[in-house]
Amino acid sequence: MVAAVPQIKHEVKDLALANVGNQRIEWAGREMPVLKQIRERFAKEKPFAGIRLVACSHITTETANLAIALKSGGADALLIASNPLSTQDDVAACLVADYGIPVFAIKGEDNATYHRHVQIALDHKPNIIIDDGSDVVATLVKERQNQLSDIIGTTEETTTGIVRLHAMAKDGVLTFPAMNVNDAETKHFFDNRYGTGQSTLDGIFRATNVLLAGKTLVVAGYGWCGKGVAMRGKGLGANVIVTEINPVRAIEAAMDGFRVMPMIEAAKYGDVFVTLTGNKHVIRPEHFEVMKSGAMVCNSGHFDIEIDLESLGAKATEVREVRNFTQEYIMPNGKSIVVLGEGRLINLAAAEGHPSAVMDMSFANQALACEYLVKNKGKLEPKVHSIPEEIDQNIAVLKLKGMGIEIDTLTDDQIKYINSWTVGT
Ligand SMILES: NC(=O)c1ccc[n+]([C@@H]2O[C@H](COP(=O)([O-])OP(=O)(O)OC[C@H]3O[C@@H](n4cnc5c(N)ncnc54)[C@H](O)[C@@H]3O)[C@@H](O)[C@H]2O)c1
Repeated sequence: MVAAVPQIKHEVKDLALANVGNQRIEWAGREMPVLKQIRERFAKEKPFAGIRLVACSHITTETANLAIALKSGGADALLIASNPLSTQDDVAACLVADYGIPVFAIKGEDNATYHRHVQIALDHKPNIIIDDGSDVVATLVKERQNQLSDIIGTTEETTTGIVRLHAMAKDGVLTFPAMNVNDAETKHFFDNRYGTGQSTLDGIFRATNVLLAGKTLVVAGYGWCGKGVAMRGKGLGANVIVTEINPVRAIEAAMDGFRVMPMIEAAKYGDVFVTLTGNKHVIRPEHFEVMKSGAMVCNSGHFDIEIDLESLGAKATEVREVRNFTQEYIMPNGKSIVVLGEGRLINLAAAEGHPSAVMDMSFANQALACEYLVKNKGKLEPKVHSIPEEIDQNIAVLKLKGMGIEIDTLTDDQIKYINSWTVGT
């Protein structure tokens, strides 16, 4: 039942989905003890009173828990989707109907709607922007110079967004501090590796129901995300091949027990391909050319540019939907290439994104980074800042507590030893 629909502006699929969304948000909250403690403190201390905040994020149950925590802290928060395919419509409905948080996000929205929502977010006149991929910040910098003075700062969730922020800083157009949430240890060690590792395969399974055991899985990019997918793929019995352009990462992959080779070679062997590089056209026509018929390709990097679908589409004689999120491209010679999730983040397009337990730490970083920006308003340089170590450590301590794990502490003798150069071996 949808109670009195709030008078707030919103664009969601169907407010009648709110009840389902509510149940799922609460379920996710059970695995998010760190964010829960932060939310309870925010509710008392109201660090965001008078602050207008925009969050551009995947609209999932975990993001909902973050948004609720920020609102509890007094923020006037508005949400938009950071990807046209990642919105969970029931979650969006619940945030509007039950929490009075304006959300502009519908699963499957077209690119024009996505960009219109970015403009709506900026119309909210934010003081703080939580971004995921840096589209809101890039649009602000390009098109809304008059709003730059309202900005206290931004927090960025993902590797690709951080790359863009560094490019803005280099070009001298970043006029406010940007907190690098992605590089917090309690974020990328867990979210990028274990979160992407599990949820990417989950997306592939939900889209295809393929058996990975005995198949050749090609993982492009052996960064934090690629490591997670390769590790979990191996665990499920896949024969994993890694492709890289960074020699150190390539050695790491080889020593972790994976075959490493250029994509043009790997393309011949792969049954399932996943790109996680943050780079463009990692799989392109010359690779499609040598792939086996029926090879499945997908992407779990931030933007849908890693697979050159335009070229594939231009060459295909037919494209047909064979399952949800699964399209088969038929080539002139009759061979087929199967594309999952339209080349967008497969874990969010076909599955539910990362499990809540890892997002607990990522979003604890987001919440505390926003608070840090407000507390240090006007004092931080306009550049990309690391998350302070105390915040990172504090999140790790809270997470361990939530997991019921205790660890050792240093003895006085050990503290003396590791701080001294005169005490020898
Ligand atoms: N799916 C998700 O939910 C999710 C979660 C976190 C991050 N991401 C995104 O995934 C991407 C990767 O993130 P990360 O943290 O692993 O980044 P990373 O920088 O740690 O790793 C990327 C790796 O790709 C390699 N690479 C670059 N171009 C390549 C090419 N042409 N061929 C082969 N390898 C290439 C780089 O050398 C690097 O080792 C980013 O776009 C990031 O925003 C997605």
